[in-house]
Amino acid sequence: MSWVSIDEGKCNGCGICAIRCPRCFSVSEDKISVQADENCCIICGHCVSLCPADAITHSLMDAENFEPVGVPVQYEPDDFMRFIRQRRSHRHFKSKAVPKKIIQQLIEAARYAPTGSNVQSVEIIVVEDAHRKRILSDLSVDFFAEAGAKAAEQLRTMPVESRTPARLQLEKMVRYRNNMLQAKSVGYDPIFHQAPVVLMFHSPLETTTPKDNCVIASTTVGLFARTLGLESTYIGLLEIAARSYPPLAEAIGLPTGHQVQSVLITGYPKLKFLRHVDRNPIKVRWD
Ligand SMILES: Cc1cc2nc3c(=O)[nH]c(=O)nc-3n(C[C@H](O)[C@H](O)[C@H](O)COP(=O)(O)O)c2cc1C
Repeated sequence: MSWVSIDEGKCNGCGICAIRCPRCFSVSEDKISVQADENCCIICGHCVSLCPADAITHSLMDAENFEPVGVPVQYEPDDFMRFIRQRRSHRHFKSKAVPKKIIQQLIEAARYAPTGSNVQSVEIIVVEDAHRKRILSDLSVDFFAEAGAKAAEQLRTMPVESRTPARLQLEKMVRYRNNMLQAKSVGYDPIFHQAPVVLMFHSPLETTTPKDNCVIASTTVGLFARTLGLESTYIGLLEIAARSYPPLAEAIGLPTGHQVQSVLITGYPKLKFLRHVDRNPIKVRWD
């Protein structure tokens, strides 16, 4: 039984469906046939979206949701480049809450981000509650405090002159520990930076490209958020801690087999960046 069907009365035989998806569609003697199932179809919806005769339906997708694309949005390249360059990691936020409707719009943006093999595996945990943020932040700091203390212990037995990657990593863990404890001692949250909203993007590990899917979703959200007056920062520290520290993983409470793959904090920015920031040129090899 094919998931996709062609309305013979509407089909104009253009074959665009077969050009796009030769795995599921075939053309013989000007007749197009389709056999779409789990062996070939990743439910991407391209066949339905491309058909100029509106002749294709996918039984696993809601026809109502295939709204016309309309006039393609045009961006001036200079404007879009400025939009990219104006993005900064913001760590100072107004105390103003982000309305639920706006958070729902952010989630909607994540929904349309692409995923490997169209697995659509990304899930999001939204944390707004101050007490909950405090628990997650404190547990993350506990992790870095422990890891930093262990790293300091290891460093004591290492020759000072060896600048190996292992030594540099240990030194970094000690710095993290010191910086976090110092921040905590003056009442500052070194993990979530007092942001009103934390978004944790997680996915089952047993799926196609879990990390990429979550990072693409969070990046899509972070950029879209800017159009709503919000700014964000990735929080890799929480991700590292969640992966390595069972008490934090337990407090987050992910479904079995899932892992946090990307974290964003977001809110209304307090500071305004006035100049673009310089960056190293990308090393490129033109093959
Ligand atoms: C994957 C990733 C993880 C990050 N993790 C943290 C983090 O845990 N805490 C933090 O304050 N900033 C974090 N950042 C922000 C970076 O420090 C920031 O992107 C970088 O300094 C460049 O600044 P910009 O984003 O303003 O261009 C992270 C950025 C990325 C891309």
